[in-house]
Amino acid sequence: MVSLRISFAVVAFALTSQVSAHACIWHPSMWGFNLSAQAWPNGKPIDRPQDPIYNRTFDGWWFHGHLGYPPHPDDILQLTPGEPTVFELACDKGNTNYWQSNPGGDSRDPQNLDLNWPCVNNPPAQFHTVNESTLGGCALSIAYKSDINEVQPEDLTIFSVQEICVWTRFTPFEIPAEMPPCPNGKCICAWHWIHQAISGSEQMYMVGFQCNPQNATGTRPLARPRVPNRCGHDPLNPELNLTACVPGAKQPLFWLQAERNNMFNEYHDPPLYQPWYGFETGAQTDIFESDPISTPTGAPTGTPSPSQYHHTSDGSCGAPHTYAPYPSSI
Ligand SMILES: *[C@@H]1O[C@H](CO)[C@@H](O)[C@H](O)[C@H]1NC(C)=O
Ligand SMILES: *[C@@H]1O[C@H](CO)[C@@H](O)[C@H](O)[C@H]1NC(C)=O
Ligand SMILES: *[C@@H]1O[C@H](CO)[C@@H](O)[C@H](O)[C@H]1NC(C)=O
Ligand SMILES: *[C@@H]1O[C@H](CO)[C@@H](O)[C@H](O)[C@H]1NC(C)=O
Ligand SMILES: *[C@@H]1O[C@H](CO)[C@@H](O)[C@H](O)[C@H]1NC(C)=O
Repeated sequence: MVSLRISFAVVAFALTSQVSAHACIWHPSMWGFNLSAQAWPNGKPIDRPQDPIYNRTFDGWWFHGHLGYPPHPDDILQLTPGEPTVFELACDKGNTNYWQSNPGGDSRDPQNLDLNWPCVNNPPAQFHTVNESTLGGCALSIAYKSDINEVQPEDLTIFSVQEICVWTRFTPFEIPAEMPPCPNGKCICAWHWIHQAISGSEQMYMVGFQCNPQNATGTRPLARPRVPNRCGHDPLNPELNLTACVPGAKQPLFWLQAERNNMFNEYHDPPLYQPWYGFETGAQTDIFESDPISTPTGAPTGTPSPSQYHHTSDGSCGAPHTYAPYPSSI
């Protein structure tokens, strides 16, 4: 009897997880916003924005392969420089305040419509974590171009990081106060997430959206972003390969795809939007042209053992690398 109950529970859980596993941001400004039905009329599953991205060709992973599903031109997310923007992150659009355009309707908890859990009636494994200590972190990037077809991976700069992600439905991202205005009042932004290896298969997530820092007064353009690196102790993947953090403007982490990765970590060693990749939570304030390229901010807290650090040729430990300046235009 007991084992029968358990097997029922397992089956029910498996069915639920097929519907609601994984997570992403939800906002009308995003590519693929209205692609949340469970299947096309011909029964082929829809590649929903919350679906994981793994081993895809460039066209398949870039902005989730959703360039053919643009938002309405006027649906632009206005970011306020110096203040947080709160996104709704959820396993399904029906779990958000945008449920009206969800084919399955409202699946929020009727007892608590503003429940801050991203996956109603589901355990954290559904959004790839064991608990709050095993989160991967997520981030927002921006390209100062209005036409998404002109954006390349090397154009995107991470401007806000949230290491407590995915964990809450209402998730704040701090916007740097110094953001300059966008051309034609519109830029291309993206949300990025990679979870820890401890919960589920390895993959990445990417969703594009139209954005604009409203009333922006910044005058310095963004610096050209560099590829981030692992530069500190990863508590869950203690294999060591440490170099000093890449400072300043950084590209998103592109990993585990068939083409155009910029991260080449092993399958069970995901690169993450965490301090040990140089990403501190909050507004990234050192991403503008002529910001001094100074001390790395991503070093682990406490005094690490020198042996954990990359030894430079002069024998010093953990010295920041020096980088040739990029050309000043982006
Ligand atoms: C990646 O995709 C290619 C092409 O579909 C396939 O041949 C290959 O086996 C896949 N690799 C992995 C590791 O899944
Ligand atoms: C998607 O649906 C929402 C809600 O109906 C609507 O506001 C939005 O304009 C739609 N987007 C597109 C591109 O049709
Ligand atoms: C979270 O899960 C990890 C992995 O199972 C475990 O080591 C850690 O103790 C847990 N933390 C809390 C606060 O429960
Ligand atoms: C900021 O911009 C918005 C939209 O363009 C406008 O409605 C608002 O009045 C502006 N706020 C300030 C303080 O200028
Ligand atoms: C360590 O990381 C650096 C930078 O990502 C990489 O170039 C190098 O190949 C790695 N070394 C090993 C032994 O994996």
